[in-house]
Amino acid sequence: PAMTRQFDAIVLGAGAAGMFCAALAGQRGRKVLLVDHNQEPGRKILISGGGRCNFTNLYTAPDRFLSANPHFAKSALSRFGPQDFLALVERHRIAWHEKTLGQLFCDGSARQIVRLLLDECEAGGVELAFGQPVTDVGHADGRFRVTVGGAEAGAPALVLATGGLSIPKLGATGLAYDLARRFGLKVVEPRPALVPLTLSGEEALFSTLSGVAAHVVARAGKGSFREAALFTHRGLSGPAILQVSSYWRHGDPVTVDFLPDLPPGWLRAAKRAEPRTTLRRALARHLPDRLAETLAAQLALPGELANLTDRALGDAEARLANWTFTPNGSEGFAKAEVTIGGISTAGLSSQTMEARRVPGLYAIGEAVDVTGWLGGYNFQWAWASALAAAQAL
Ligand code: FDA
Repeated sequence: PAMTRQFDAIVLGAGAAGMFCAALAGQRGRKVLLVDHNQEPGRKILISGGGRCNFTNLYTAPDRFLSANPHFAKSALSRFGPQDFLALVERHRIAWHEKTLGQLFCDGSARQIVRLLLDECEAGGVELAFGQPVTDVGHADGRFRVTVGGAEAGAPALVLATGGLSIPKLGATGLAYDLARRFGLKVVEPRPALVPLTLSGEEALFSTLSGVAAHVVARAGKGSFREAALFTHRGLSGPAILQVSSYWRHGDPVTVDFLPDLPPGWLRAAKRAEPRTTLRRALARHLPDRLAETLAAQLALPGELANLTDRALGDAEARLANWTFTPNGSEGFAKAEVTIGGISTAGLSSQTMEARRVPGLYAIGEAVDVTGWLGGYNFQWAWASALAAAQAL
């Protein structure tokens, strides 16, 4: 129809991936329309990293990403690394710092990253269509047609960048998955990840420890993380638990080594050194008081260490190193930092993010079945996959 405005590419979703992709394609001379149903773009960026946006991680490597195809992310990640995004941050004179484990944050505010992306979009002449719903997407004769707020736009390329299902109240929807399915792409079951896990039954006892944290090694499936764990009124949280939640499936145990820094035999050694002390006091040397109290009560070895057999102490040590929780669930998409799963990489080119069977259709960012660890990896995937697509548009 004559009323349809024509573009070279339409990008759905003005989050991290969509904004970056639109900007880069625009700067390559493409006429780009960037669409979002939120009035304000990048709402997840704004709340990320506690408001300071952990925008990348210096230790980005393919093994820090989960996907049904662990090789898929390699190409894009190798063509746009953390130093590349950092160079952009510096070009925009945004002050930054490394917090821990290679995590880079803004000194000021996450708002600066949204500003950066909008400025780059402006430099690319990207047209913005925010604050109105996408009511229809069509495809005929190799062209895509998108209806936004009653107006129709057409283009030979459509980029799905509407992210995952995490945090619906910020505007997350399953649009990318729905469209992908409509175009014949498979979707790997989306699940909440980087999410607190909940405990019930006897383990709910640990809720009395709400607010207590300890440095542990937490494990689930193939995931093992040495970081802080935090007890909450509903169960377990803290970086170590958020990380293992990505590897956890319903019914799986999560094991916690509460004392990863102590050598084997430490409890028996404590008995020799201080026979009059109790298990609770021996634990409190290394752990917060309330945690020591709860663990000692669960181990049910009362009295002085001198009166406990080496065998009992050895068993206690083994349990403390391999404490098993069986979460009954997670806090769900309402609290999940990311969605694991998503548009299957099997139908996408790892070079360009283009659907193999649907020329002109692309998927990038969190909508794709590539999920990073906690610590800036998910934004790095958003940037890298956006660049891979933009270079092909
Ligand atoms: P993103 O979710 O950013 O953008 C999708 C866009 O699509 C949104 O603007 C949305 O409104 C729009 N959209 C959705 N449905 C639509 C529809 N039906 N129609 C039109 N538009 C639609 N990562 C990291 O690396 N470092 C960090 O510090 C953090 N911190 C963090 C904190 C919290 C609380 C959360 C929830 C998440 C993080 N993350 C993070 C994860 C990170 O925010 C996330 O992986 C990226 O934002 C994903 O970028 P995308 O552009 O793919 O999706």
